[in-house]
Amino acid sequence: MSSHVSLNKNGQINIVLHERENLVIENNEQFTNSNDPFKRIDREFSSFIGMNRLKETVREIYANIEINQRREQVGLKTQNQVLHMLFKGNPGTGKTTVARKLADLFYDMNVLSKGHFIEAERADLVGEYIGHTAQKTRELIEKAMGGVLFVDEAYSLARGGEKDFGKEAIDTLVKHMEDKHGDFILILAGYPNEMDHFLSLNPGLASRFPIVMDFEDYSVEQLIQIANQMALEREYQLTKDAEAKLRDYLVRKKQKYHDRNFSNARFIRNTIEKSIRKHAVRLIKKNSYTTEELMLITKNDLTFK
Ligand SMILES: Nc1ncnc2c1ncn2[C@@H]1O[C@H](COP(=O)(O)OP(=O)(O)OP(=O)(O)O)[C@@H](O)[C@H]1O
Ligand SMILES: [Mg+2]
Repeated sequence: MSSHVSLNKNGQINIVLHERENLVIENNEQFTNSNDPFKRIDREFSSFIGMNRLKETVREIYANIEINQRREQVGLKTQNQVLHMLFKGNPGTGKTTVARKLADLFYDMNVLSKGHFIEAERADLVGEYIGHTAQKTRELIEKAMGGVLFVDEAYSLARGGEKDFGKEAIDTLVKHMEDKHGDFILILAGYPNEMDHFLSLNPGLASRFPIVMDFEDYSVEQLIQIANQMALEREYQLTKDAEAKLRDYLVRKKQKYHDRNFSNARFIRNTIEKSIRKHAVRLIKKNSYTTEELMLITKNDLTFK
């Protein structure tokens, strides 16, 4: 709010506060509608089972961007959000899929100018001689400008210790994420224990990532929901018996692996795809079949090996 200070003829100070013109600022109509500003986000993430905290964080980021724009329009101070992120989670918990989705969504929200997604691993960043790594990493960051740079198994950058070129890649990433944080989003991903160890070796790194996402292992019931949804997307359906068989298997499997090597939703996807093939082999031997038969995956079709 601006103010105007003047002395009146009695020597008293008059402070006139000029009410800011009460502007009505419109929503980003392309992205949302005013009845439910989060509708688009909810729709984009509706196919992701669970992940409530992630959905909440994306809503916060979006609300902040929108309100910042409106503050800017009336001349109030705004702050750029730093959106670099750490994703920690076991195999198949959705890290890569979510990162891709965020690239699209942030483009639609006008946070990223291009919204493309670049997936990199150690070999894409680390070079073979002194200076090579910084150059390779810089080139990759250049390519990622306007989009998301997703570094999978980020802890492998710290593999060889102090003398390894991986360290140089980390330093280069850090330097550029500070310089150019408005233009691209860096996401480092990996398994939880390895990521924690990696961060402990690089003090100061964690604080540069204001958003840390823990991708929890899915419960058996969530995995069943994912299976039903994956089947439905493909216009198949699990019979009740097939679902019970899957539930029994998942309970045993999760106990056996203590959640460590089990590949969560990826295991479900592979299982559904294998079962669809088995279903096809069963049906092809028959001469005629109903629409229902073409859709139903039975207990015997369900295969885990
Ligand atoms: N919450 C979820 N709801 C539905 N499908 C999911 C969910 N999470 C993951 N998936 C599916 O599981 C599969 C594996 O996910 P993704 O590749 O993203 O896992 P990841 O965490 O990157 O695994 P990795 O660490 O092994 O690279 C994908 O097909 C993805 O669509
Ligand atoms: Mg992945």
